[in-house]
Amino acid sequence: MTETTSTTSVSAEQAAREQALTERVLDSFENTRDPRLKEVMQSLTKHLHAFIREVRLSEEEWNTAIEFLTAVGHITDDRRQEFILLSDVLGASMQTILVNNPANGNATEATVFGPFFLEDAPEIPLGGNIAGPAHGQPCWVEGTVKDTHGNPVSGARVEVWEADEDGFYDVQYDDHRIAGRAHLFTDEHGEFRFWGLTPTPYPIPHDGPVGKMLAATNRSPVRASHLHFMVTAPGLRTLVTHIFVEGDPQLDIGDSVFGVQDSLIKRFEAQPADTPTPDGRNLGDKEWARTRFDIILVRNDERQ
Ligand code: BEZ
Ligand code: FE
Repeated sequence: MTETTSTTSVSAEQAAREQALTERVLDSFENTRDPRLKEVMQSLTKHLHAFIREVRLSEEEWNTAIEFLTAVGHITDDRRQEFILLSDVLGASMQTILVNNPANGNATEATVFGPFFLEDAPEIPLGGNIAGPAHGQPCWVEGTVKDTHGNPVSGARVEVWEADEDGFYDVQYDDHRIAGRAHLFTDEHGEFRFWGLTPTPYPIPHDGPVGKMLAATNRSPVRASHLHFMVTAPGLRTLVTHIFVEGDPQLDIGDSVFGVQDSLIKRFEAQPADTPTPDGRNLGDKEWARTRFDIILVRNDERQ
């Protein structure tokens, strides 16, 4: 008699031996005092054993996996977090975000945080510029922050950060520059506005083990063009999200960390040279773009 797994067949006797081991490991967690830890460890055991049995993992493959995880650890330091990158490209980061941020009426959807946020980005006034020394096409970004009942949220802290036109965040340069990032606060109508750069596609760091894994599986490291936001306000759930650029071909090719949500794709309207800007300036022969992002935050006491 045989028992069928998705890739191969094993005898009933073999299947029973394998299942008995899984049961012994599950039992080993029975005395875990914290019920949540017990649930997580037993579920992890079930899925991990099922995976090993389903693919009939060879000992050589298991060694390769250990070497891979060791390399992920070795390249990780206080500036580079290869484990988060691994979680990102496996869709685990995004799945965790989906599980923890269920659709909530008209509330703005969340997406991945990424590794390039800095706590102490400078404050800019409304209408200020986040670019600093970063190069790229100027982009006017405006919008409102409201709660799910349509009430404007004044004084919300809006953190924004993005890569330059060469695809690098300031922290990826060695000269300690602060560029392409800032925070500002919404006014009494919940409105914000600032100058940034029109986002362009860029690859996630791919010179380490995660990059090798992407190459081996014929996957691109490139992210769809985006501008990061983190919005915080008292009594409201913090939102970590991005906006993406409508028409960016990378949206069809795919985002390497699975961060795209349709509701976050925004029109970035190209403005020909000499078009007066919303803050009454003329950028001369420089083209610029403008976009709008209206943000809706969930109240802490609202059901998730
Ligand atoms: C980012 O968008 O900055 C990012 C997200 C995930 C992995 C690497 C970078
Ligand atoms: Fe990014």
